[in-house]
Amino acid sequence: MPSDYAADDDHEALLETCSDSTRPHLASGWVGAKNRWRKRQDGQRWLSVCWHRLVQSCRFLTARRFLTVLLVLITMSITYNIVIFYFENPVFPISSAWKEPRLLPLQITCSALTETRRNLSKQPEHRSMTKLRIDAKVLLFVETIYSRLGRDIAELLVHNRIKYKVDVVGKSLPVLTNLDKGKFAVIVFENLTKYLTMDNWNRELLDKYCREYGVGVVGFHPASEEVLIGSQLKGFPIFVHTKMNLKNAALNPASNVLRLTRAGETAWGNLPGNDWTVFAPNHSTYEPLEWASPNSELPSPFVSDHGAARLLYTVVQDHGTYDGIQRVLFGSGLGFWLHRLLLLDALTHLSQGQISLGLNRYVLIDIDDIFVGEKGTRLKPPDVEALLSSQKRLQAMVSGFKFNLGFSGMYFHHGTDEENAGEDLLMEHIDDFSWFSHMWNHKQPHLYDNYTHLEMDMKLNKNFATEKNIPTDSGYSVAPHHAGVYPVHEYLYEAWKKVWNVKVTSTEEYPHLRPARLRRGFIHRNIMVLPRQTCGLFTHTYLIEKYPGGREKLDENIQGGELFQSIVFNPINIFMTHMSNYGNDRLALYTFESVLKFTQCWTNLRLLSTLPVELGEKYFQMFPEEEDPIWGNPCDDSRHIKTWSHNKTCQQLPNFLVIGPQKTGTTALYSFLSMHPNINSNLNSIDTFEEIQFFNGKNYYRGLDWYMGFFPVPINSSSQYLFEKSATYFDGEQVPKRAHALLPQAKLVTILISPAKRAYSWYQHMRAHGDQVALNYSFYEVITASESSNRPLRDLRNRCLLPGKYSQHLERWLTYYSSSQLFIIDGEELRTAPVDVMNSVQKFLKITPPFDYATHLRFDKKKGFYCQIINEDKTKCLGRSKGRKYPQMDERSLKLLQRYYLSHNTALVKLLKRLGHQNIPGWLKMDLSDTMVT
Ligand code: A3P
Repeated sequence: MPSDYAADDDHEALLETCSDSTRPHLASGWVGAKNRWRKRQDGQRWLSVCWHRLVQSCRFLTARRFLTVLLVLITMSITYNIVIFYFENPVFPISSAWKEPRLLPLQITCSALTETRRNLSKQPEHRSMTKLRIDAKVLLFVETIYSRLGRDIAELLVHNRIKYKVDVVGKSLPVLTNLDKGKFAVIVFENLTKYLTMDNWNRELLDKYCREYGVGVVGFHPASEEVLIGSQLKGFPIFVHTKMNLKNAALNPASNVLRLTRAGETAWGNLPGNDWTVFAPNHSTYEPLEWASPNSELPSPFVSDHGAARLLYTVVQDHGTYDGIQRVLFGSGLGFWLHRLLLLDALTHLSQGQISLGLNRYVLIDIDDIFVGEKGTRLKPPDVEALLSSQKRLQAMVSGFKFNLGFSGMYFHHGTDEENAGEDLLMEHIDDFSWFSHMWNHKQPHLYDNYTHLEMDMKLNKNFATEKNIPTDSGYSVAPHHAGVYPVHEYLYEAWKKVWNVKVTSTEEYPHLRPARLRRGFIHRNIMVLPRQTCGLFTHTYLIEKYPGGREKLDENIQGGELFQSIVFNPINIFMTHMSNYGNDRLALYTFESVLKFTQCWTNLRLLSTLPVELGEKYFQMFPEEEDPIWGNPCDDSRHIKTWSHNKTCQQLPNFLVIGPQKTGTTALYSFLSMHPNINSNLNSIDTFEEIQFFNGKNYYRGLDWYMGFFPVPINSSSQYLFEKSATYFDGEQVPKRAHALLPQAKLVTILISPAKRAYSWYQHMRAHGDQVALNYSFYEVITASESSNRPLRDLRNRCLLPGKYSQHLERWLTYYSSSQLFIIDGEELRTAPVDVMNSVQKFLKITPPFDYATHLRFDKKKGFYCQIINEDKTKCLGRSKGRKYPQMDERSLKLLQRYYLSHNTALVKLLKRLGHQNIPGWLKMDLSDTMVT
């Protein structure tokens, strides 16, 4: 047919005018266009080409020809309308003839893909045989805390969980050693010039540290304002040329820096930015690591005698033979994706393997909602066949790979006949895939306020699976929209365990969706929650036009961009995709095949996959510190609040905490506060009475719902204040971090008395509670217990003495909370002048209206303490356990403790002054002065 030829010719002509780099895109566009010719626009274009030919032939028009042309036109018009009709009606069977998606895979080829078994063992480990005296930590020098590259570097380190310290380059250096150990394994300069122009004293100190501890330096040459040609780097036999415009980067395959990064390929095309620096070394200590070609005419130093452009060195390695320090110098920042990989390799190399990332990368691809989707977006038999053949190709790249299919049985066979046939084909291939349960009806778990309903719906899905022979023992499950996983909906965890024996799940929401580099895992009720990565494919992303940013963005994500980096930076990647991503344009197949090929071409990573439960176990073996969850406030994240039960409210959380320490008068303060009509404390706990002790012990693992269950919903949240008092919070290692994660705006109230007196009161408290060790040993024996004493005695000594190191504990609180959130009460004043103290507390808490404590508190002679006034004759005092009668502390113990706490008390004075306290408490002065005398 002439018109067909015309269209093909047009296309060929178009291709001829294209550059090489755009050719594959256009070619794929053309195949797509063929498949879309049902669309009206294409039909019109087709007709217009025919019309054009027709007009040309009219010049030779005769009556016979005219009739022929008319006939042709009528036939074409009928055909066109039939075609349009077929393709506008999705259930019509002809659509199944179009098996190929419009998108052709990216043309990614490299030797790594053709090697049958990649020899990964030859990658250098960079591990030194000698015993290293350096910590696996980076010292990052930035120009300012806001500078762009500095932030990029820090983010890369965070993403890869590499420890670092940031310092602004200035007059002084941070402390570099601790005892006989170097604190940093590599020093990174965001701006190389700052390193070169450091004042002599600091530079000598730094160089000495590097030589003595075998520490290397990374430096990024800054983009310069002026064009420098052959300018020497101060003090080094190497020259630079700046403001270069480059293309086609490649790596030196002989470089021993490369470990994670694989040499052998060329990143074709323009390199980002036009202010690259290139290096021209004049010493054998330098070896290129990366080079590129010029994009514009070169000045003479960079052109060889034959007039050809030399390869321009964009990253160089300094072997250290010139001055004894190894370095890697970058001619541009991290805007070019390859530099991110090179920086990781440089860190491993320069730290002699102290900072090192494993080379295994696990990939799990969930296909969520395999039966859920609108008619017209679901999988047809050709899509299922494509899924199976893509899986085979992926298996060749990723050892052990299987797509992991999540199902909501209620929606099975809800498509067109052809889509239902697609599902039948899936059922024939059940064993080719892994399976996990979703919710039966795709309802979000947090919407279930009734446990029994949730369990019943889960059972329906299990019955469906059993009926269809879908495996039910994966131990993995995922909730629709992440609901119920985090923030935790306890019913979900309970039902998952009971119905499905779930051991592992995954979410993008912990602690927050963004930034992705900070996503972490945790374990709750023995269910491992793994962080999930985003691949950019959502339920609605089934056509390339719907991909945010279009094909260009997708290809960028694949070729060195976010998705590729996610695989490189995360040892375990769990991607969530949806059924619709595998029909229509089959974007998921395109995305994963391409990105994994790209990963194989550019890295030496071993791509692996395994069952989710094993992935969970591996994850927490790698990151055991993540096992403990950190409960955040769901109201601080708009996404979290959307998946939180409407029965829950953040008003059920305290506005302030009384944090202790024990035996300083916390119960008295608690009872005085509770007298205020607008202040409510928590309900009593069965185990620990008025104290909930949530943030410091096992109770924390009971979860947020458990904690909130202690607080009444305030009738008027703007005038009512909720608080909680747990005296053991004060010295709990984890408490400030946990409390701040949940209650960042909370105010904190603490009471301090003489730490020596506090220790003695605590000892008496333990005796009164029948503690056998306290009963068997005198106070003096307890506080003088040594490391050779028996374990129970040592434990008792620690619990008795450690809370009294006030400054240390307060500093920990102050790393999370601002000083304006902290109120310190002098416990002696609380005992002797509680009305004044309570007035100041009310002022600090900004509680209105103020409560008149003067008319509600009275000194009770019998008790020896202030008590609540009931009437003129009667008071209500604290119980016998508060304000006990016991003999005075012996002088020897007192002196010993005053000495023991000397440095802590001195630090406390400094801290109080820093916090703006005008008056230092009398007991503190006394403890310090008594020590001076002795
Ligand atoms: P002693 O029983 O050793 O005298 P806490 O409530 O934090 O456990 O602290 C108990 C201490 O609070 C008591 O220690 C007591 O000295 C002190 N206290 C302060 N004001 C009090 C009051 N009005 N009634 C009872 N004890 C009070």
